[in-house]
Amino acid sequence: MLQILTNHSNEYLFERRDGLLVTQFPAVEHNFHCDVGLEDVQFAVNNSRMLVANLSLASDGTPFEKSEYSDGTFVIPEKVDRLFQCGASVILRGAHRFLPGIRTRVNELRRIWMCDVQANLYVSHPNSIATTPHFDPHDILIYQVSGSKNWKVYDCAFKRPENWDSFKVERHGYGDEIEEVLVDEGDLVLWPRGIVHQPVASSFSIHIAFGIKSPSYKDLMIELINLMALEDEDFRVNPRLQSSSAENVHAMLGLVEKLREVLNDQEIGTRLLDEMLAYDFQGDSSEFSFR
Ligand SMILES: [Fe+2]
Repeated sequence: MLQILTNHSNEYLFERRDGLLVTQFPAVEHNFHCDVGLEDVQFAVNNSRMLVANLSLASDGTPFEKSEYSDGTFVIPEKVDRLFQCGASVILRGAHRFLPGIRTRVNELRRIWMCDVQANLYVSHPNSIATTPHFDPHDILIYQVSGSKNWKVYDCAFKRPENWDSFKVERHGYGDEIEEVLVDEGDLVLWPRGIVHQPVASSFSIHIAFGIKSPSYKDLMIELINLMALEDEDFRVNPRLQSSSAENVHAMLGLVEKLREVLNDQEIGTRLLDEMLAYDFQGDSSEFSFR
């Protein structure tokens, strides 16, 4: 199995997910490599009959309309190339589906971390900005393939967003710039979910963002209730059958007590949680998007 860091176990990196700090590992401190060039991206765009959902183009933080480089369903390579030559940044979403070298790394990360991992690839011209400040709702491992990027970090009161909670400036907001992180060629950076950032390419740049899907306690609670409902019809009663809200509250407090009993039983509780974490978060699951 790939040992990602030179002086630490994979668990060391794993434990730093879901924190509140960016952790940077220069090229000499890790064994992670993924050689992808501009020509590989161009080959994928030109030869894949690529769905428009898999490609975004942006300039000065603003995405181009899909109609400017697609027929509504598929990407039109000549139009992509023209916009790219005029300075647009290219974002290849789900890059592991098109580029075998990235797919290999994604599969390794899935095995190491026992969760779904997906990859986006970013190609940027010098001094270009592909996105406005935002957070991503899952942890990200950044690998700077070539060139360098300067990442501005902003203060944000909202912590630990979940996968459904994509960044909206009017809802989440952000404050002052608090840090700059210069990421050089070969660097690996663990970027926990919820940190507001804006990358600016210092030179011609290619980086890969490996999105790491993280379960939360809320996910476990929902899964536990789903499992219990398979066995216990009390969880499956239609609340509209009760004559009053008070009866529903009483019934739901009874279900909470059943949850408490399961979690209090060391053997059943820990076995269920182990099974849920092992089963639900392995391998390729549904799509999740990030910027
Ligand atoms: Fe992002």
